[in-house]
Amino acid sequence: MKHLWRALGYLRNYRLWAVGAFLGLLLSSAAKLVVPRLAQMVIDSGISAGHLTVVVRGAAGMVLVAVAGSAFSVMQGILSARVAQGVAYEFRNQLYAKIHSLSFSYHDRAQTGQLLTRATSDVDMVQRFVGTAFINLISAILMMVGSIVLLFVTDWQLALIMLLLVPLTLGIVAVLARKARPLFMRIQQQLADLNTILQENIVGVRVVKAFAREPYEQARYAAANRSLFALNMEVGRLMAIAIPLVFLIANLSVLAVYWIGGYQAIAGHASVGRLVAFANYMMMAFFPMLMLGMIVTMLAQAGASAERIFEILDAQSEVEERPDAVPLPPVKGRVAFEHVGFRYFSSGPPVLEDINFVAEPGQTVALLGATGSGKSTIINLIPRFYDVTTGRVTIDGYDVREVTLESLRRQVGIVLQETTLFSG
Ligand SMILES: Nc1ncnc2c1ncn2[C@@H]1O[C@H](COP(=O)(O)OP(=O)(O)OP(=O)(O)O)[C@@H](O)[C@H]1O
Ligand SMILES: [Mg+2]
Repeated sequence: MKHLWRALGYLRNYRLWAVGAFLGLLLSSAAKLVVPRLAQMVIDSGISAGHLTVVVRGAAGMVLVAVAGSAFSVMQGILSARVAQGVAYEFRNQLYAKIHSLSFSYHDRAQTGQLLTRATSDVDMVQRFVGTAFINLISAILMMVGSIVLLFVTDWQLALIMLLLVPLTLGIVAVLARKARPLFMRIQQQLADLNTILQENIVGVRVVKAFAREPYEQARYAAANRSLFALNMEVGRLMAIAIPLVFLIANLSVLAVYWIGGYQAIAGHASVGRLVAFANYMMMAFFPMLMLGMIVTMLAQAGASAERIFEILDAQSEVEERPDAVPLPPVKGRVAFEHVGFRYFSSGPPVLEDINFVAEPGQTVALLGATGSGKSTIINLIPRFYDVTTGRVTIDGYDVREVTLESLRRQVGIVLQETTLFSG
């Protein structure tokens, strides 16, 4: 939950739009709540009483309310989209910048597929929650409370039925939400696994072909894909059962209302218009309950996604610039290693131990050694792709950890073992 609160903080920059979207939703909901009242008036004071003017006025009122309601809906839709897209835009940019700022050691451990999924699909989830679900959640609660209150105002005796139905429906919705929640989290994880396989195979497609591993890799992908399919099907089945079930309850309760209310109306205790209004409010009360269920499941899903995003945004880069770092002045090029020791992981084996050498300006130095002896590792320490575990590396007497990264890397030329082509 705390991750969701933090994600909601991203609404800060879109406060006005969010408030506008919420108002739009509120007003369009209010418009919906007015219609049954007008219908009641038309039936009781118009049709039953034989006053045509009342019917015409009532109908005109309904048209007016419907048009206004639609206009508010449009306003809400546009503003919500603005908020949602704005939040997603910020998340994507922040993630991208963070991925760039993280050190080599982070990327050694991170799976590219995971990073990709978090920067795309997880951002979508959070966007949907922050931009839409959150606003809908508040409105669903208001609509539910509003229609139930109006039910009691319309006919408090009939409304007592709701005391039975509301807990029943909310119970069904709660069971659905509890079942769906873990599924949604697994779907997101499975999607990341699938993307990891996809990314590895696209990058390494030449290796896969060279070793004739296509059938193996295809089987691996198919297995992950099958799991995703099965998980999504499970969610689909749950939804397919739950939604009609709630509507069945809603329809049956409307039936009950007409039945009981019908008796009363025939006996002259209740008016037909009131009965119709009541039935309409009843239908209206069920929809937000269903919404509530969906939003609650979405809440959990978005929470998991937000957590996965903040995990990246909060990651500490192992190579950090010191607050008091100074720019490295134009270098002459005296590179010195002093008692340098290095491990890739704190628990891993030492790769370098007590390395001492000086490369003077103008000198050409070659490192020779068996494969895996640590040549590339030594080079990686000069531009601070990694930090030494012990000892220090200096350029013109400056410890590389004491200068700004930008000034250091701008002055160190490097040709990597593997080449990468960038588009554009
Ligand atoms: N990113 C990494 N994470 C963990 N261990 C690593 C990493 N890169 C290299 N190593 C290990 O560190 C050791 C030194 O590797 P390094 O790449 O520096 O050797 P090298 O001398 O450049 O080899 P080559 O001649 O094959 O390029 C090896 O045992 C290697 O397995
Ligand atoms: Mg190497």
